[in-house]
Amino acid sequence: MLNVAVVGMGWWGKIIVPLLKTSSKISVGKVVEVNPDSIADFAREQGVEVVTSYEEVLKDPSIQAVVLCTPHTQHTDQIVAAAAAGKHVFCEKPLSMTRADVLRAVAAVEKAGVALAVGHERRFEPPIVEMMKIVKSGVLGKPLQVEANFSQDKFLSLAADNWRLSGKEAPAGPMTATGIHLLDLSVGVFGEADHVYASVKQLGSHLVNGDTLAILVSFRNGGHALISAILATPFDGRFAIYCNEGWIEVRDKTHPEAPEGWTMTQCFRGGRREVKEFPPVPGVLANLEAFADAAEGRAPYPVPRDQMVANISALEAIFKATKSGVVEKVEG
Ligand SMILES: NC(=O)c1ccc[n+]([C@@H]2O[C@H](COP(=O)([O-])OP(=O)(O)OC[C@H]3O[C@@H](n4cnc5c(N)ncnc54)[C@H](O)[C@@H]3O)[C@@H](O)[C@H]2O)c1
Repeated sequence: MLNVAVVGMGWWGKIIVPLLKTSSKISVGKVVEVNPDSIADFAREQGVEVVTSYEEVLKDPSIQAVVLCTPHTQHTDQIVAAAAAGKHVFCEKPLSMTRADVLRAVAAVEKAGVALAVGHERRFEPPIVEMMKIVKSGVLGKPLQVEANFSQDKFLSLAADNWRLSGKEAPAGPMTATGIHLLDLSVGVFGEADHVYASVKQLGSHLVNGDTLAILVSFRNGGHALISAILATPFDGRFAIYCNEGWIEVRDKTHPEAPEGWTMTQCFRGGRREVKEFPPVPGVLANLEAFADAAEGRAPYPVPRDQMVANISALEAIFKATKSGVVEKVEG
């Protein structure tokens, strides 16, 4: 049983703590929140001890790992500090905001020999696992192009000064909220990106940081990803991979915070569309338990570190492209 401290008890920390209560692999030893009054009722209901200092849990020998659910610009330094204290790290997305920072984070965990995991639960959803297996098996032929969308309207109710709407913490509007998950899956299909074009606009809401994002990613091994992420329309989620012998698409029924299942559609050349329904499974918990397996040496974490680096390298180029308005080369 991996004993963790969950750090940052806002929207996502409050999703993760109750999920971990159902786990036979992870226990929540403490939670860290800089604004403890905001979670007094929650902490009582969940029966968790709240501390206000991250440094305190890093010194605590009963805590073996941290689960970071904090604002984006804090992630890299918190990963580095945790690794230096010998704690395994599960970090919510994005792991870092720049390639230089993700390399710093990965170097720190490698030096310390601790596990590193990232909150891209989409990779752990059963239909996505099956889709990736099918594509990697080659039965659909060569992967040519990804088309993906992850849109939602949850941020319309946030206060204008919320960090998740700020240009510093969330450049490129919806990118760090939802687009990053699709970029991660696209890296899972094609590997390292070569160059990107991206445009973000404020078209349908009061979100001045931008509510509508369109991205074209071109990968080094060939292949494109067309990524759409919108914050001013109701939830939608789809990920499709087009190959030269057929295509496959996964559609989400609901946001991953409360999954209600998925529909997978597959079509081979000359065949008919085949549709398969998947019942709901908590992908967020599956990801956290894969992290526990890695930390306790039962199995390697299934997302390779070079893909974590490739994702953030492409992310940084997307941030640049939305500002420059031109195609940006991905570093690395
Ligand atoms: N995987 C997913 O699908 C998913 C979904 C939602 C959010 N997230 C990620 O979760 C993270 C948190 O997002 P959120 O929407 O929950 O934000 P939030 O603002 O609701 O919560 C952040 C919390 O962290 C606290 N905090 C800030 N600095 C802290 C520190 N140094 N130590 C302890 N607590 C600190 C804040 O007071 C706040 O309560 C982000 O990385 C976000 O991208 C992931």
